[in-house]
Amino acid sequence: MDALLGWIEKRLPVMDAYKKHLSEYPMPKNFNFWYIFGSLAMLVLVNQLVTGVWLTMNYVPSGDGAFASVEYIMRDVDYGWLLRYMHSTGASAFFIVVYLHMFRGLIYGSYQKPRELLWLFGMLIFLVLMAEAFMGYLLPWGQMSYWGAQVIISLFGAIPVIGDDLTLWIRGDYVISGATLNRFFALHVIALPIVLLLLIVLHVLALHEVGSNNPDGIETKLPKGSKGEGYKTQFPFHKQYSGKYDVIDSIPFHPYGTVKDLVGVAVFAFLFSYVLFFNPEMGGYFLEPPNFEAANPLKTPEHIAPVWYFTPFYAILRAVPDKLLGVVAMGASIVFLFLLPWFDRCKVRSYRYRSKLHLANIIQFTISFIALGILGSLPATALYTLMAQIFSFGYFMFFILLFVYSKNEATKPLPERVTFK
Ligand code: HEM
Repeated sequence: MDALLGWIEKRLPVMDAYKKHLSEYPMPKNFNFWYIFGSLAMLVLVNQLVTGVWLTMNYVPSGDGAFASVEYIMRDVDYGWLLRYMHSTGASAFFIVVYLHMFRGLIYGSYQKPRELLWLFGMLIFLVLMAEAFMGYLLPWGQMSYWGAQVIISLFGAIPVIGDDLTLWIRGDYVISGATLNRFFALHVIALPIVLLLLIVLHVLALHEVGSNNPDGIETKLPKGSKGEGYKTQFPFHKQYSGKYDVIDSIPFHPYGTVKDLVGVAVFAFLFSYVLFFNPEMGGYFLEPPNFEAANPLKTPEHIAPVWYFTPFYAILRAVPDKLLGVVAMGASIVFLFLLPWFDRCKVRSYRYRSKLHLANIIQFTISFIALGILGSLPATALYTLMAQIFSFGYFMFFILLFVYSKNEATKPLPERVTFK
């Protein structure tokens, strides 16, 4: 066996990669609750891929057959209901986990130098994830699938000059039709998952190149000898790290990280199972009631709202009375997130050692984002539109204010070594 493994290792160093990226990856000792969401995102991804493959075995990607095939999966396919609910609940769980994962990056300044590229890959993942969820939502061919897609695709029509041609090109028809369903199916099942997987590999490679940040936001991977003799690597970390760096205040990912993440997985499994088995529609937030009716191009639902994870951005779109400017504002809300590493000019990363103003700004941003999420799911009355305008202002002000105060921010002294709160 040893000889066989040695033979493989010489030709393809899998054990070496396993140690470097998993078992011996140095994990800062002060990781807390917020650090479980990366591996949870991977777990949910696997859930989506596996249940997705099995759903595809019975799903019919055509305008005539789609809705009925989903009903068939729910009623007649063995455990079809379980596969379908695991996939639909998984979509919402994915966004909950990813939003919390991004929030962690925000409060601990994990996007700052040298982790900008890691953040950019994360944001690309977020964009592709939104496209993946949007295209998946058309597939059951229910009323909300149809009309939701109608609203979102028509947004491209607001783009000057090319708008009309662009919407025609996306739909593959003059209206949303079976042709649109076919192409969304191809993108949802093959193209976007491949892109997503590739981006996640790049995301993790970019993280492992620079090392993890931590709740104190101080470096644990120092150039060799830069801090003198006191700083010695405590564990025989993989040669890539121990040769070039002094890795301090860290422990090997296995067994410490694996056990810690397992606790997260157990808690997550409880919550996920509750929704899955007792409340799969989650009061209309995870699966919207009009989607239990087949798509009908002649009957517009009374109130069209996207699924909850799109609503903050949808509220920004609706807050602007002009359609084109609304699209621009919504685009800007995502572009600003991409550029976060360059809006923040402070040298200190974690909110723990930053100013009260920074903390207040993070709190107001969080409130604005949640409020926009709620408003985006409500009808656009005059009052709600005004509120959406106020909170959209709060959303953008987060970035502008950050850019202004972060240059000369009054920060607290950083600890020499990581702390345990
Ligand atoms: C499918 C989605 C994603 C997966 C599977 C994923 C996976 C991971 C994993 C496994 C880690 C290391 C463990 C951890 O720190 O939690 C990580 C770290 C990180 N991710 Fe993601 N991620 C995803 C999406 C995102 C998004 C959307 C962003 C932000 C735009 C992002 C930003 C980061 C950052 C900044 C770190 C480093 C955090 C630190 O060291 O403090 N990730 N990611």
